[in-house]
Amino acid sequence: MKQTYVLLVGIFLIGTSAILMKPDNQARNQKRILDVEQLAVSDVLLMLGDDTLIHHVQQVDPQKVKVGEDLVLNGFTERDGKKTKRISTHFVCTDCHNLKREFDDITSDDPADRLKYAKANDIPFLPASTFWGIYNRTSFYNKDYVKKYGDLVVNARDSLDNATQVCAKYCSSGRYLEQWELDAVMQYFKSLELRVKDLGLDATTLKSLRNIGKLSSSEKDKVIAKIKGAYIHKYDATFLETLPREERKYGEGGDPENGELIYEESCMYCHGSARLTYLSLGKNKLDARMFWYNKDSYRDQSLYQIVRHGTYSKPGRRQYMPLYTEEKMSDVQLNDLMAYLKQLAEK
Ligand code: HEC
Ligand code: HEC
Repeated sequence: MKQTYVLLVGIFLIGTSAILMKPDNQARNQKRILDVEQLAVSDVLLMLGDDTLIHHVQQVDPQKVKVGEDLVLNGFTERDGKKTKRISTHFVCTDCHNLKREFDDITSDDPADRLKYAKANDIPFLPASTFWGIYNRTSFYNKDYVKKYGDLVVNARDSLDNATQVCAKYCSSGRYLEQWELDAVMQYFKSLELRVKDLGLDATTLKSLRNIGKLSSSEKDKVIAKIKGAYIHKYDATFLETLPREERKYGEGGDPENGELIYEESCMYCHGSARLTYLSLGKNKLDARMFWYNKDSYRDQSLYQIVRHGTYSKPGRRQYMPLYTEEKMSDVQLNDLMAYLKQLAEK
């Protein structure tokens, strides 16, 4: 009798502990899964034995990340209770660069995909590439940027530090960063780097990552290749000439809805209420007619000209408009924009 009692209590205890253990185990497993997915991509690559990035940040310092964020968002920070010297009086980095993901598929650089993502996520559609994941890229100012900036970009091609300096001084019409500022910006870029969860890796690769310690070196190489194939390492930049008059479609067959989106999320991002320039652009007939009446020309007021060439910074008038490369606005999108402006102009 007593024995049966002990046995029953025993079974009861084992049973309840099994029930109690189960969710606990599940939670622990879940946590392990989440942990791998939360890891920064550059850290995982290092763990797998890949080469160190040139701009590798040894130790993340949250205070420096914050300083870097201030510099990127506002152009200055506070030190000893005082505002530091602005990087530029004309621009902040986020006038041209987003801080968020810009594509569903982050191996793509197709402007149609980028516009679709901008629409779905309500983010601006800007002439420069996003800082999200810039830490994971290895080549900058690619392809045709050498035509605009010449020797300046040669040293910036494979150095994120130098690329940042070129942009702080030239794209921003500002100045070079001091070393502490540059360090802080790199820390901030590190905080915006890709995480494993962003890569959409298959279950086998994720499983390998969870058992990273047990992988042979050839297995590690395979995982490195999988990871590196899951995101873009550089954004190409193709400069296009102003479309010759005889090739302009003036909105014919274009999609005005896309065009409206480009007008709002790109042109008006800078020109709305004359935020960055004397030229104020809004969704009204008058502004649309300015583009319509200039549609045949090769002047700055022609949509075809301004999008492909932007304007240049001059002494006394340092703010300028960056050009859109083919990767940042396709000719199809340009025609969509024209289709919208034509509609708005009631022509
Ligand atoms: C007026 C517009 C503008 C401003 C302001 C600006 N940039 Fe840029 N930046 C560009 C353009 C255009 C490129 C060309 C390459 C690209 O991003 O696609 C670029 C490229 C870069 C690149 C190389 C990116 C790549 O993938 O090739 C870095 C790094 C960069 N900028 C950092 C900065 C920082 C930091 C600031 C603020 C201090 C800044 N930029 C301000 C327009 C701008
Ligand atoms: C990153 C900010 C920015 C974006 C995005 C931008 N612009 Fe500009 N744009 C400028 C600046 C700055 C100028 C120079 C004007 C000045 O000196 O104030 C300019 C100049 C122009 C001019 C020439 C004005 C003149 O009288 O010479 C036109 C036209 C123009 N932009 C149209 C557009 C259109 C259309 C778009 C969208 C496809 C666009 N801009 C996107 C900043 C921008």
